[in-house]
Amino acid sequence: MQFNLFKIKTPPLVGVDISSTAVKLVELGEAARGRYSIERYVIENLPKDAVVEGNIANMDEVVDALKLAWSQLGTRSRHIAMALPSASVISKKITLPAGLSEDEMETQVQAEANQVVPFSLDEVNLDFQVLGQGASPGGDVEVLLVASRKEKIEDRVAAAEAAGLKVLVMDTESNASQTAFEGMVHVLPDSGRGQTVALIDIGATTMHILVFVDNVMVYSREQSFGGNQLTQEIQRRYGMTYEEAEKLKRKGEMPDRYGLEILQPFTETLALEIGRALQMFVASTSWTKVDYIVLAGGTAILPGLDEAVAGRTEASTMVANPFAGMARSERVAADRLAMDAPALLVACGLAMRRFDSL
Ligand SMILES: Nc1ncnc2c1ncn2[C@@H]1O[C@H](COP(=O)(O)OP(=O)(O)OP(=O)(O)O)[C@@H](O)[C@H]1O
Ligand SMILES: [Mg+2]
Repeated sequence: MQFNLFKIKTPPLVGVDISSTAVKLVELGEAARGRYSIERYVIENLPKDAVVEGNIANMDEVVDALKLAWSQLGTRSRHIAMALPSASVISKKITLPAGLSEDEMETQVQAEANQVVPFSLDEVNLDFQVLGQGASPGGDVEVLLVASRKEKIEDRVAAAEAAGLKVLVMDTESNASQTAFEGMVHVLPDSGRGQTVALIDIGATTMHILVFVDNVMVYSREQSFGGNQLTQEIQRRYGMTYEEAEKLKRKGEMPDRYGLEILQPFTETLALEIGRALQMFVASTSWTKVDYIVLAGGTAILPGLDEAVAGRTEASTMVANPFAGMARSERVAADRLAMDAPALLVACGLAMRRFDSL
């Protein structure tokens, strides 16, 4: 039997999202049994092109930003969870017969990986996760195969180590978003049961579409589209540098005609893109409609975007708050968090890995 009198506190594990515009850190704690709290977070902007399409292009700039962010965070721990962008990961669901030993399963996964991975398995980190037993008697087993080029993982680990940090978990962005989504479902009607919900993360360069049916992820796609398009339009119209345009856009201090001439056309185009992406989902799966759209990412907070998306898609729309229902440390300012929360989806999902059952 197992004694459980003294709960061993899980040591801090900080979620670290290295995205194309920033290094984002989130530390969660446990306020009460089963109730998380946001303890600290930092968003440290990266210079332009330090990270390009999920790849670290300028290691020194990323390490500097990570060091700076870490010193602002002010936590005791050095342990982190990181994620690989979806573009660096090949994942595939496979079905295996029940009753295989761990070794047999590994052999089968390797064989399958040989088919789907377009380079030598020596260059690849391969992992798999059993998803659950099928319904058929003698039940097949669904297994998620995840493969990534070693160099993609090594780059991220090298950045962390150069900043004095230790990577305990290497996750994928999709999976981290999914973890964060699971923590938010209680804000959906009937906690998402029986619903088709699209979680759309719109960052600076990529839009990531995840669809959940009955809270199970059934679809994941990425496309190039994001807030950078709006920044570029501001640059072009007002003859500004990228940095100037980005600063003004975030402050929201824009000339009078900005709303009508630049912002509104952008939100309309974005809503149209989202509408198309969801049509693709419907066309390529057996599901016929999306009931709810949850908008995440820094671009989700653009004024009027949720209405524009609702208008285009006939789904109810809301802006994601991955910290909904969590307690908040007094170190964390509520008004700033409200603005930053949608962009912290991945970092929050990574921070939640601290509470994985051992
Ligand atoms: N207050 C704001 N108003 C308008 N746009 C904002 C605001 N804050 C951030 N953004 C925009 O959100 C985008 C950054 O969002 P986010 O942090 O989710 O992107 P990212 O994760 O770095 O990018 P990607 O996921 O593409 O790698 C930028 O285009 C930025 O200009
Ligand atoms: Mg992002």
